[in-house]
Amino acid sequence: MKSSRPATFPKGFVWGAASSSYQVEGAIDTDGRNPSVWDMFCRKEGAVWSGQSAAVSCDHYHRYQDDVRLMQQIALQAYRFSTAWPRVLPDGVGKINRKGLAFYDRLVDELLAAGITPWVTLFHWDMPYALYCRGGWLSPDSSDWFAEYTRVVVSRLSDRVRHWLTVNEPQCFISLGHQEGRHAPGDKLGFREVLRVTHNVLVAHGKAVQTIRANAKLRPQIGYAPFGALVCPASARPADIQAARKEMFSVTAKNCWNNAWFMDPIFKGHYPEDGLRLFGDDAPKFTARELATICQPIDFFGVNIYTGSRVRAGKNGKPERIPHPIGHPQTAFHWPVIPDCMYWGARFYWERYHCPIYVTENGMSNLDWVALDGRVHDPQRIDFTRRYLLALERALLDGVDIRGYFHWSILDNFEWADGFKERFGLIHVDYATQKRVLKDSAYWYKEVITSNGKCLHESP
Ligand code: FCB
Repeated sequence: MKSSRPATFPKGFVWGAASSSYQVEGAIDTDGRNPSVWDMFCRKEGAVWSGQSAAVSCDHYHRYQDDVRLMQQIALQAYRFSTAWPRVLPDGVGKINRKGLAFYDRLVDELLAAGITPWVTLFHWDMPYALYCRGGWLSPDSSDWFAEYTRVVVSRLSDRVRHWLTVNEPQCFISLGHQEGRHAPGDKLGFREVLRVTHNVLVAHGKAVQTIRANAKLRPQIGYAPFGALVCPASARPADIQAARKEMFSVTAKNCWNNAWFMDPIFKGHYPEDGLRLFGDDAPKFTARELATICQPIDFFGVNIYTGSRVRAGKNGKPERIPHPIGHPQTAFHWPVIPDCMYWGARFYWERYHCPIYVTENGMSNLDWVALDGRVHDPQRIDFTRRYLLALERALLDGVDIRGYFHWSILDNFEWADGFKERFGLIHVDYATQKRVLKDSAYWYKEVITSNGKCLHESP
């Protein structure tokens, strides 16, 4: 049954999909690329599920043309990918690897010829190992290294690329990689050092913004894509909504799994008071100038939304987390399915920061396989995405300025410490043969794109 609802997704709303260099490219020692911290981490026994590595992964480095063709089949309007720092500057700084940089040239040209807009993330976790050996993100020089790398990429691609993201999900690579030791580089630093890393990364973001503005040939659109710790109210009661809002921007634990520490300095120019109080002497020492560098005006807020928690107002309005009910829907990763976090996340971010929003990641892991009929049936992914997009539409209707949506991910790929255990792609990848098969969700997403979201209202 077709619905007669008027269109909600505005004209020009961007429909895309995303990936990252380390997760899809493979070709880790081809054409002069040097190791990243992830290559070294994969060599450690027990670090990655089943001892897997991304040495080949989807071999996108060699198969990008076919992959762009598949993106075209899905009618993708934009493709978010990241450039690999150790491919562009194998030692992290200094000598430019022309062949590595040329790959991104070709990829951008291919995308543009296919009518797909390239969105480039500069850092999606693959720091050159050579820089790690010089102190990595702990080094006070790290923000300058990142600015140098940014300048090289931007000088080369900005005659064709307009959309830039500086850093992807700093909370994840800092917490998992520097505090918990579960991701590269595998460190378990003390909290003071973890916060020093945080500060250096935020300054690196700011310097990258300045560098993009100073060097871009096409007028740039610059964003940042932190991890979203989303909180939804347990009910529509104003007290519960207020409790959820409060919880979403509070810093309540000595770790980096929060929003405000990673967003307030960028959008408001200061660290959150509750975080400074809680972290005490561990908080980084910084200058007003550094804060000013971090707080560069940016053009959009990239929000990555997967799951969330629920909160109600307890005594005196104090936020109380409530557990998910037994049997609550979950993805193969056991991430609870919470479509509401798309609505509330977008709304709370907009209220607090007032920066136009693009959902730069959203999707789910599944245990897909190619069926006897040769197709990949993934009804859960369709239902998941439909629910989250309807919640996004609700936020649009309530006046939140949301300008686009990128599904994670275009291809099944290397899911960090979980290796190839689970699949996030719209396109199935057989890693032994590199054969790609569009999943049912890819065909469905094409309908979403071509109807500009209208088909979300059609009965399944
Ligand atoms: C995000 C990461 C992305 C991918 C998805 C599933 O945290 O940015 O690389 O791993 O989760």
